[in-house]
Amino acid sequence: MPPTPSWLEIAVFYEIYPQTFFDSNGDGIGDLAGILQKLEYLQYLGVNAIWLNPCFASPFQDAGYDVSNYYQVAPRYGTNADLEKLFAEAHRLGMHIFLDLVPGHTSVENAWFKESCRPQPNEYSDWYIWTDSVWTWSAPGVQTVIGYAQRNANYITNFFHFQPALNYGFAVLDPKHPWQQPVDAPGPRAVRKELRNIMKFWLDRGADGFRVDMAGSLVKHDADGKATAAVWQEIRRWLDRDYPQAALVSEWSRPTVAIPAGFHMDFMLPFARNGYNSLFRLFDPDDHTNTSFFHPNGGGDIRFFLDEYLVNFRSTREQGLIAIPSGNHDTTPRLGNERTPADLQLAFLFLLTMPGVPFLYYGDEIGMRSADGLESKEGAYDRTGARTPMQWDDSANAGFSTAPAEALYLPVEAKPRHRTVAAQRDDPESLLNHVRKLIELRKEHPALGASGSFKPVHAEKNAYPFVYTRTGGGETVLVALNPAKSPCGVTLPGTLSKKPPQTLYGTENVFQRQGRKWLLKLPGVSGGLYLLS
Ligand code: NOJ
Ligand code: CA
Repeated sequence: MPPTPSWLEIAVFYEIYPQTFFDSNGDGIGDLAGILQKLEYLQYLGVNAIWLNPCFASPFQDAGYDVSNYYQVAPRYGTNADLEKLFAEAHRLGMHIFLDLVPGHTSVENAWFKESCRPQPNEYSDWYIWTDSVWTWSAPGVQTVIGYAQRNANYITNFFHFQPALNYGFAVLDPKHPWQQPVDAPGPRAVRKELRNIMKFWLDRGADGFRVDMAGSLVKHDADGKATAAVWQEIRRWLDRDYPQAALVSEWSRPTVAIPAGFHMDFMLPFARNGYNSLFRLFDPDDHTNTSFFHPNGGGDIRFFLDEYLVNFRSTREQGLIAIPSGNHDTTPRLGNERTPADLQLAFLFLLTMPGVPFLYYGDEIGMRSADGLESKEGAYDRTGARTPMQWDDSANAGFSTAPAEALYLPVEAKPRHRTVAAQRDDPESLLNHVRKLIELRKEHPALGASGSFKPVHAEKNAYPFVYTRTGGGETVLVALNPAKSPCGVTLPGTLSKKPPQTLYGTENVFQRQGRKWLLKLPGVSGGLYLLS
């Protein structure tokens, strides 16, 4: 069943961290006018949707995930008019844009919070979660900030101390803490109404949807996520009615909860030593060797990912989509670290042929690497290295900005070498051109669309290769992946394909007929996409 809205079927998203994408006015910080200028590049790359990290007014203690005014673009990025212009131009080029919605907390600088801090009861008193007195220092399962306000109470934070949690109520009320409010109290109701106002404001100005920050964090003491899901279900019913072409992707990483909650898509994220991590970012705890499946060391285990993925995929298939990102602004190291362009081609072959919706993190398409040892910027801490400026060419600051190097938001990679757009654009064998080719194939072949079916053909514990098929629109394609440096082979049922599979991408002549079976032999670090018949 194709997803709703229909544009998701062939969507390929590109995440833009606005402060480091392209600086149009030479102040050292990327901006909306800069993104507008680079839409041509995104079109050339072939992506057709953008997720913009927060671009709203903020003191930037957490890079904009601390919003002080949801209705205003941060001046360092431009104006509301600039954002509307970006929507319009993107739409003209057939692209969609998601904003980043932070529903769970605001900045302490938000006017609502400032009002809420006042000792005199007012409209905003219950918009945040406050204990009954400043002497109620702690509460189970939540974090309090002590003695911040003039009001005789402590607030609950959602993330960092300057990100007070908006009040969506408690799913289970603890009689020992009578200050906890039920989800239908006036405060939580007003907050839910405001959330919708914010979404409506930007949808009416051209946004196509939202990436939703900490989507599962809204209602407190909600272990199974059901009360938080109810908030989103209500939003989804409203979207389906009033904005049927809008979509939401959640930062939840629990598709079996997030998709029934109403999200069109949920991300798989490295929140623990989990399946997603095991693809690209698993390290031996003792000697730090890379034990990811996508690494030439060949020490990975695809089952670690697949067993978890299949549970999620099978139970959400009819309702929503899983989004597997190449990385994001929270993940280090970047995909490009410790990998050659040939290694990266295989990672992208996987990312761009899986069901659901792929998300590419800016710069991953040219193999950008995260830097170590940078001082924390705007609350990024060890995430800082993954947020350095996009590398456009070999001019000063890798073409990101005309500002003096010391005025840049973050330094550019010291020696980008071939890891720039300019160096790769004209080289048909570059990573950039491989990624472009794979995106093109994804759009051309309905089997590779978001809702095409997925079947593992060969996926053994601690072994290579990983082989799967995708079927849709009357065709079946097979993906074979051997990221390990040692060659590998496997016999597959002869019924898979009558004729020798046709190579659509990657290593040729890998299939040999052997009696009733196909023998698939892959050299080290190789793989491809094949049409079965
Ligand atoms: C998740 C965002 O991706 C991260 O960058 C941010 O720090 C936290 N949520 C808090 O909003
Ligand atoms: Ca700028």
